[in-house]
Amino acid sequence: MNVIKPVNRRITIEDLHTPEWMDIVLEMHSMMNVPRKKMCQFGYCTDRKSLVHRAEFESLKHWEYPWLIKHGEFKPGAKILDCGCGRGILQFYLAKKGYDITSVDISTLKAHQVQGFWNIVRKLGLPIREDKASAMKAMARRYGTSVDFHVANIARLPFADETFDHVYSISVLEHMAKGEDVMAIREMSRVLKKGGTMFVTVDFSPVKMEMKAYTKEDILALISASGLQFDNEYDFEVHDWDKYLNELTAAFSKKNKCQVSSAAFMLKKAA
Ligand SMILES: C[S@@+](CC[C@H](N)C(=O)[O-])C[C@H]1O[C@@H](n2cnc3c(N)ncnc32)[C@H](O)[C@@H]1O
Repeated sequence: MNVIKPVNRRITIEDLHTPEWMDIVLEMHSMMNVPRKKMCQFGYCTDRKSLVHRAEFESLKHWEYPWLIKHGEFKPGAKILDCGCGRGILQFYLAKKGYDITSVDISTLKAHQVQGFWNIVRKLGLPIREDKASAMKAMARRYGTSVDFHVANIARLPFADETFDHVYSISVLEHMAKGEDVMAIREMSRVLKKGGTMFVTVDFSPVKMEMKAYTKEDILALISASGLQFDNEYDFEVHDWDKYLNELTAAFSKKNKCQVSSAAFMLKKAA
């Protein structure tokens, strides 16, 4: 397989233009019936189903998902855990490819419109109950597949030690309370089988920011807390941050200027 090195890296515009990266994006767009005129763009995509049942393919995920898939080298039938799955299309895409997917999220109602919907339901006292697990099951069914979904905090995973061949967490740790990210990475490491791999993406900035984003030093501290092995080849350096953010904005957002990038790293548990 033609893997672009280094594995542990921030977004690069070159990745986005790699045909094999783009093939994955297009496959996911087509699975979600994203209108053709929107094809090859990296904006927010959904399958446009009802607010409660819509699956999502958010902008920076157009880099993060192909990064994971290209580096995952998952064997057929591999048992994979998605930590903080949200409504991300990735879990359904991988399940459809035949992997054995377990997904965990503290809530499936992250999208602010959905949150707004449930606030109104609660305010008006309407007799509608939020059933996260059945919403996830309905989404999986729509994609002709199934995922084993659990409502849980990933800082306390409800699984036995060494259950999964691979564990991943896409853009979740920056949303957790202070200190819980370290608990989560230790938990993900605990449930990983020996010889297994872990994949993590986080919001990244080379400088400390008000919104939570990891610097290179924060990422290295997280990796060290995991107790797992780290391939020392990485590329988290940005020489001209402002220019780089302009490039990201042109690729992903076009309207609001990107304030952070995304960085990804892969860890291995000794066999
Ligand atoms: C930016 S979304 C990413 C969702 C998904 N990974 C994707 O690719 O679209 C962050 C997700 O993390 C979840 N999350 C935040 N804190 C969590 C926690 N402590 N345990 C489990 N999930 C959590 C949120 O509910 C939300 O669905």
